[in-house]
Amino acid sequence: MKKEICMYLSNVIEAVPAEEFYDLLELPPEEKLGDYALPCFALAGKLRKNPALIAEEMARALNDGKAALGIDKAEQVGAYCNIFMNRAVYAAGCLQALTREQSGMAQTGKGKTICMDYSSPNIAKNFHVGHLRTTIIGNSLYKIYEKLGYTVVRINHLGDWGTQFGKLIAAYQHFSSKEQVEAEGIKELLRIYIKFNQEAKQSPELVDEARNWFVKMEHDDAGALELWNWFKEISMVEFERVYHLLGVTFDSYLGESFYRNRIPALVKELENKHLLTESRGAKVIDLTEYDMPPCLITKSDGTSIYHSRDIAAVLYRKETYNFEKCLYVTGLEQTLHFKQVFKAIEVMGYDWAEGLVHIPYGLVSLAGARLSTRNGNIIYAEDILKEAVERARAAIQEKNPALKDKEGTAKMVGVGAIIFHDLFNQRIKNVNFSWNDVLSFDGTTGPYVQYTYARAKSVLRKAGEAVSGYAIDYHAFTDDITYSLIKTLDGYREAVLNAAEKYEPSFIARYIISLATEFNKFYHECPILRAEEGTKQARLYLTDFVQSVLKDACGLLGMECPEEM
Ligand code: ARG
Repeated sequence: MKKEICMYLSNVIEAVPAEEFYDLLELPPEEKLGDYALPCFALAGKLRKNPALIAEEMARALNDGKAALGIDKAEQVGAYCNIFMNRAVYAAGCLQALTREQSGMAQTGKGKTICMDYSSPNIAKNFHVGHLRTTIIGNSLYKIYEKLGYTVVRINHLGDWGTQFGKLIAAYQHFSSKEQVEAEGIKELLRIYIKFNQEAKQSPELVDEARNWFVKMEHDDAGALELWNWFKEISMVEFERVYHLLGVTFDSYLGESFYRNRIPALVKELENKHLLTESRGAKVIDLTEYDMPPCLITKSDGTSIYHSRDIAAVLYRKETYNFEKCLYVTGLEQTLHFKQVFKAIEVMGYDWAEGLVHIPYGLVSLAGARLSTRNGNIIYAEDILKEAVERARAAIQEKNPALKDKEGTAKMVGVGAIIFHDLFNQRIKNVNFSWNDVLSFDGTTGPYVQYTYARAKSVLRKAGEAVSGYAIDYHAFTDDITYSLIKTLDGYREAVLNAAEKYEPSFIARYIISLATEFNKFYHECPILRAEEGTKQARLYLTDFVQSVLKDACGLLGMECPEEM
């Protein structure tokens, strides 16, 4: 309908193409200003006319063609032309378009591939709340791009290589045993790693020992690699438990270690392109020209580093997947790292560097205190998820002890609460975590949304018979409350497109809250099952739309919705 209005206007004023009208047309801040508003300031220059006069002319033209355009009336107010749609026509158009959208939202990504690098925890370290954020944000972006038709490659770039593993091997030999590691897993590996760092302050020979172990690893020493592999397996078991709880999977687990053998070729390429300089035995790419510190490629002992492994990784991904974009979801503190890596790719002469995007997110604090491993304040993501499920279970026990699938529901609610809380605010914002905010049943929370979904489903269950196929009277949707709900439904596509364009799932989370709020208003103000037959059918039909969009949108966040709650 919006497109038709724009085409019509562009026929009236030929100097302005329909696309320009389309970009100008905005949603008014208040209902009494209509459904669309056309601000005419921007047209004044081109048309050499006072904007108010243009608005008046537009309003007159729209009123002339209103029947065919599905418009009730158009009004000039100052420099604006406010357009009021015919509510029944608008409702029909919106719901019909939505049916089409649901079965495949605008497939803008058809034939394009996006590589997504997210989660990527570090072997032998705890999967902390920061990793929980990248996992949740990354998984949501994956679902969003997939919905738009992209082929998405989900890559878990495991932190499984680097000098710290030399330290870990040395630490294991000094301070631990096979039995202890088998019994305690990552906790033990973390304990000895911290102990090693403390001891190394007094005994510098430990540092040399660790460095030698890493050099051995880089030279494929069987004994070193066997221990390293074992640490990796132990860690993976624990990480998989978190992924299982979250319902997250990956297409590739190629971590940093995979790229170690590609460093010599990278060094050669950089040398051929005259991009390497020596700095105290290390090989670096000088980036002074771009106001950045040098990008380290190999250290003085010849070993690879985080940066060079990332450069090798992205070359490999380009070659393997020929991506359009490669996205990296990590904490904000890695911003410089990615700037350097992307710049390195650019100076190597690869124009596809444009498609490399760092997607940073803010810190998580627990009741104000920053969470970190260094000061021993170790928090495991798994514990948080489990506690959320535990608390959801207790709430269900208290509020609805007769619920059928209590265990399954507790998991959906607990995990969903964590996911929703993470995605509701802009990702760059720091998250202050408090259980009350996360699990509350009212307010902007996952449980509130899930409860609303379950409410819609319960109405439909009570109605019994199938709600589709009935000839719907769209006039039932013209009162203010219902119409406002329809307009909110109409905003779904835009929320998804915004989220995709800005790499920002919060657009969808916020959309979900407004849809749930509008639906609850409708539910309280407009009786569904008690209405007379035609209205009842129309309201059930609308309720069915709301539940399906709620579920679809929650799915894009990686969140499940229980049928009953
Ligand atoms: N392992 C890193 C960390 O835990 C994140 C890796 C992100 N991905 C990458 N390609 N560098 O901080």
